[in-house]
Formats: sequence, structure tokens, C-alpha cells
Amino acid sequence: MKLNKKIVVALDGFSSCGKSTFAKRIADTLEYVFIDSGAMYRAVSLFSIQNKMVTESKIDQTGLIQMLPKIKIHFQRNENGLVSTYLNGKDVEKEIRGVAVSQLVSEISKIKEVRLYLVQMQQELGKEKGIVMDGRDIGTVVFPNAEIKIFMTASVDVRTKRRYDELIAKGFEVSIDEIRKNIEERDNNDLNRKESPLKQAADAVVLDNGSMTIDEQMNWFKDLLKSRKLLEE
Ligand code: DC
Repeated sequence: MKLNKKIVVALDGFSSCGKSTFAKRIADTLEYVFIDSGAMYRAVSLFSIQNKMVTESKIDQTGLIQMLPKIKIHFQRNENGLVSTYLNGKDVEKEIRGVAVSQLVSEISKIKEVRLYLVQMQQELGKEKGIVMDGRDIGTVVFPNAEIKIFMTASVDVRTKRRYDELIAKGFEVSIDEIRKNIEERDNNDLNRKESPLKQAADAVVLDNGSMTIDEQMNWFKDLLKSRKLLEE
């Protein structure tokens, strides 16, 4: 798929909607850079754990805010050909997906100064365009002028089932009720936090991918590019 100009694709939506899978496929197809902005919030969470800024789930916000300039995050392909998240030069991809970080990240992403710091970094990464970024505030705050904004959604039932199947396949012992509760909690946090809550941008296109395969989503995306006259003739 070739485009007639370099653009920014902003992908926002609820957790466990398959945003990253879709964003990665779009980036591969367009030969663009893919940035998982959630990984950046996760990296800051890991940094605060490593630097003992979290005790009994209380965060030393003042300490963290002071240390923000010391947090350097970048993305790089590792020896397996997959893109990893690096925190201060170290590959932390595995650690940021673990339970400790997953439990903390929602609170970390509520901190205004953390958001300002990461949004600036995200805007820097996208200043040359040719980027696909997924998150919660990409079309509203990070790239309000993105040429394509997609807001992804799927029912809680569908997302619970997907997440359950994914964890079971990875060998985790989980119950479906536990997963549903976690998804509902995360939706609630994302929608109701004070700083940059999850919100559909006025000019975003909604994609409910509840009953769509990834190939169907890619066909939908191609049609969207066509309707915006962005595909090279
Ligand atoms: O997409 P994810 O589940 O890896 O995101 C991790 C957390 O970061 C989640 O609690 C939502 C938050 N987040 C955010 O507030 N803003 C973003 N642009 C991306 C993620």
C-alpha cells in the first residue's frame, strides 16, 4: 500500500481491543514506525518501582516528577526482529508487561507531569510523520492534527474472551470473572481520570472490531485511505 503523502495515524481506544496488533500491521504495511505509547507509561512505572518510589501502592509523586528528566525511553528492534522498549538503555519489554507494572501503570498515567513529559517525547517521535501511534489520547492530545484518527472499541464480553484466551494460551491460570473485572476497572480508570481521559476525537472514525479478523480490519483501513484520497493511484 503506497500513500501519496506522509501521514500520522492515531489509534485510540479501550484496553484489550487489539489496538497494538492493528497498529503494528498498519505500520508494517505502510513501512511506517509503530509506537506503543502505553509502553512508555509502563516504562515510567517500572522506573518508579526500580527507584523505590512506590511503597504499599503509594507513589512518591514529588520524587518521580523530579526524576523525570532522567527517564530516557526508546524503541529498537532486538535480535529476534521484534521491537523492544528500552528504559535508560536497557531492554525492559518483558518487565513492563508483568503484574507489578500492570497494577501500577493506571495510577502513574494519572500524573499530569508524567503525561506532559511523555506527550512531548511522543510528539518529537512523530514530528517527521510516517508514524502509527496507539494509546488513549493520541488523536485528542498528542497529534490533534493527525490525518487519520481511529477510535477502536469492542464489547466488554468480546474483550474479556480475547484476553482470557490470550492468557490461557500463555499458560496463566485465570478466571473469566477476574478478567472481566479487570477490564471494567481499566475502562473506568481510562474514561474517568482527570488528565486526558479516553475520549473519541471529534474527527475520529470508530471501528468496532468485535467480529472482525485482522485482515478484515486491514481492508477497512484500506477503504478509509481510499475514501480520504490518500492512496497513490
Ligand atoms: O495500552 P496499555 O494497556 O499498555 O496502557 C498502559 C496504561 O497506560 C493504561 O493504564 C492506560 C495508560 N495510557 C495512557 O494513559 N495514555 C496513553 N496514551 C497510553 C496508555
